[in-house]
Amino acid sequence: MRTRLLAANWKMNLTANEARATLATLRAQIDPEAATLARDREVMIAPAAVLIPAVAQALAGSSFLLGAQNMHFEDKGAFTGEISAPMLKPFGVTHVILGHSERRHIFGETDEVINRKVLAAIRHRLVPVLCVGETQAQHDAGSALEVVLGQLENGLDGVGGEDLRRVVVAYEPVWAIGTGRNATPEQAQTIHGAVREMLRERWGSEAADTVRIIYGGSVTPENIDSLISKPDIDGALVGGASLKADSFARIVKARAG
Ligand code: PGA
Repeated sequence: MRTRLLAANWKMNLTANEARATLATLRAQIDPEAATLARDREVMIAPAAVLIPAVAQALAGSSFLLGAQNMHFEDKGAFTGEISAPMLKPFGVTHVILGHSERRHIFGETDEVINRKVLAAIRHRLVPVLCVGETQAQHDAGSALEVVLGQLENGLDGVGGEDLRRVVVAYEPVWAIGTGRNATPEQAQTIHGAVREMLRERWGSEAADTVRIIYGGSVTPENIDSLISKPDIDGALVGGASLKADSFARIVKARAG
């Protein structure tokens, strides 16, 4: 049984004060059930980089994991505006979202750059949450699977079987992100199943069965239960609905039905 991952991607939202208030409300709802929830799930918060120290402090003594939304593949150097794994780790960051569709489509990140980041995360023992997903046009053209598998193939180039087990894949169809139009659980399961099959062919059953494949794109308290009821949907990467403590708390308490 894979441990589910419910992850909040706050994107470029919340000030430090807003983050503290949100986490106080969230912890009030999650901490009392933390031991029970921890039996089959992990919860991760990925705030904007500048909020990481404040969020680390606000999460002290909780079971929440701390993630970054991006990082550079080099450890240090003349890369103005960038942050590196050795800068993140002292704050207790354990996960890093890489290749999010906004990084790919707004900031022009290529599969090659994302692959270098994945390898850097692995080198530093950070869990890469590698995002893949097709655009609306690719979806309409019927090439979703081809796009997703291509992004995965490139993004995971050079990753060994032992390291693959720790990778989290996030399937996030671009047409579903922030649109209120989530993929149906059946649509997502079809892609997730094919992703696991591809991982199995390349890295073997044991590694493929260990990798968490989470879904992202308009996840809400209303659709989370049916999404995680599918055999290959191991959790969710949540944007908009993670900004409100009440709705993210409900998502964290998801129940497969
Ligand atoms: P959304 O974003 O939940 O607001 O659709 C998800 C994401 O981009 O990770």
